Amino acid sequence: MIVLVGYASEHGSTRDIAQRIATMLDKAGNRVETQPLDRVRDVDRYDAVVLGSAIHDQQWLPPATRFVRRNRDVLAGLPVWLFSVGMPGALPRPLRRFAMKEKQKVITNFRDIINPRDHRLFSGVVVPSQLSRMGRVIFRVLGCRYGDFRDWRAIDAWAQDIACALVAAEAPYVRPAEQ
Ligand SMILES: Cc1cc2nc3c(=O)[nH]c(=O)nc-3n(C[C@H](O)[C@H](O)[C@H](O)COP(=O)(O)O)c2cc1C
Repeated sequence: MIVLVGYASEHGSTRDIAQRIATMLDKAGNRVETQPLDRVRDVDRYDAVVLGSAIHDQQWLPPATRFVRRNRDVLAGLPVWLFSVGMPGALPRPLRRFAMKEKQKVITNFRDIINPRDHRLFSGVVVPSQLSRMGRVIFRVLGCRYGDFRDWRAIDAWAQDIACALVAAEAPYVRPAEQ
């Protein structure tokens, strides 16, 4: 299978996650192309698509939403998996349930159009230099923590699930033997 792993990343943590997923799918025997979404052409060349974006201000980054809007018809006919990279891991525990609401919100405009097989929210990396002065103040007031919160085990497990689904999609249908 030819699989696109496309991403939109501002500071690199989403790109790293996309590359990790691509490596797993490649090891599982797929032909995988990993690209920033603003460079992808001819989406109909692919048999399956994994799309990821960093979340900024509770939305996917503009290159990712533009990509979905432009390619909605092709994506609607392909198996598609989505992942979002935000900062649930940086939040104090009582605020983490808001991250789950955000997970629904970020794809709400196109969920019904492309009908993804799955959508995962992963934690990324948050360091002070990425935030504005006001952002740093809000971050501190809310009791958030800086750091690299990527859970590589969870990411690998998800990639493995996708790899299994791709194998199942390729397997020829074997009619059960008649009794
Ligand atoms: C300006 C800015 C706004 C952000 N807004 C959100 C947000 O609304 N929700 C969230 O979960 N994470 C938010 N984050 C955290 C990022 O999603 C997180 O740092 C992620 O790892 C960024 O991915 P990237 O390194 O690929 O750019 C924000 C980060 C920045 C710098």
